[in-house]
Amino acid sequence: MTTEGQHYPDRLKRRVHHFRKFKEEGRRIVMVTAHDFPTGLAAELADVDAVLVGDSLGMVALGFDTTLSVTMEMMLHHTAAVRRAVKTAFLIADMPFLSYQVSVEQAVTNAGRLVQEAGAEAVKLEGCREVLPAIERILAAGIPVLGHIGLLPQSVNKLGGYKIRGRKEDDAELLMQEAKLLEQVGVFAIVLEAVIPSVAAEITRQVKIPTIGIGAGPMCDGQVLVMGDVVGLTAATSPKFAKRYANVLKEMTQAVQAYAHEVREGTFPGTEHTY
Ligand code: KIV
Repeated sequence: MTTEGQHYPDRLKRRVHHFRKFKEEGRRIVMVTAHDFPTGLAAELADVDAVLVGDSLGMVALGFDTTLSVTMEMMLHHTAAVRRAVKTAFLIADMPFLSYQVSVEQAVTNAGRLVQEAGAEAVKLEGCREVLPAIERILAAGIPVLGHIGLLPQSVNKLGGYKIRGRKEDDAELLMQEAKLLEQVGVFAIVLEAVIPSVAAEITRQVKIPTIGIGAGPMCDGQVLVMGDVVGLTAATSPKFAKRYANVLKEMTQAVQAYAHEVREGTFPGTEHTY
């Protein structure tokens, strides 16, 4: 399977080593999630740096209430679809709940499946200390890893909800230690989710690898948003940190309403749509 640029052969094919270079050059990193071919294509055509097939697909595209229902089979299916659209951006797949927590062997096998069967170039795991052995072995197998600390959606039941991180001094210190540990083991970047901006800024200063914020303020080295929030593809209201740049669900509904109206009126298909 080729990952070379096809839509825009003149664009830089983003690879894992570019992300640290972008940080050093002060070039902000753009990451967005995608969950199927059209959302992958939108990200690719917009020339983002990285596309994450996040397990948020469970909520955005599959109608689940949390990310906990997302399985390896779903991630493989959706990552492969996004891969068919994404050629120049770096493609990362989320490891879903229970695909890396049970054993290190399973973690390596599942990370390998996302690369081998679905075409991911890297994987993302939530957490730090509990999953460090898995991260180390995945890296040893030659698979780049994106870390993810702060609010961890896969631990929503343990944490008792989606809570902002870093408000108290000991929590801020814990996040700093986690970021440094992840840097030491060799992750190429770290997602900081729902971390208060001053803490995210300090972590960003103290680690050499890029931080990618979501709800973590403007001082991170890059930003990631969920595609459904960016384009307005979700029925639910978006979180405070997300910005809607379009209202695609509304446009789709209006288009389907117009089509339904014309079918009922007998004005579609017209002569121009008839052989
Ligand atoms: O699943 C996802 O979309 C994510 C982002 C929120 C970073 O993990």
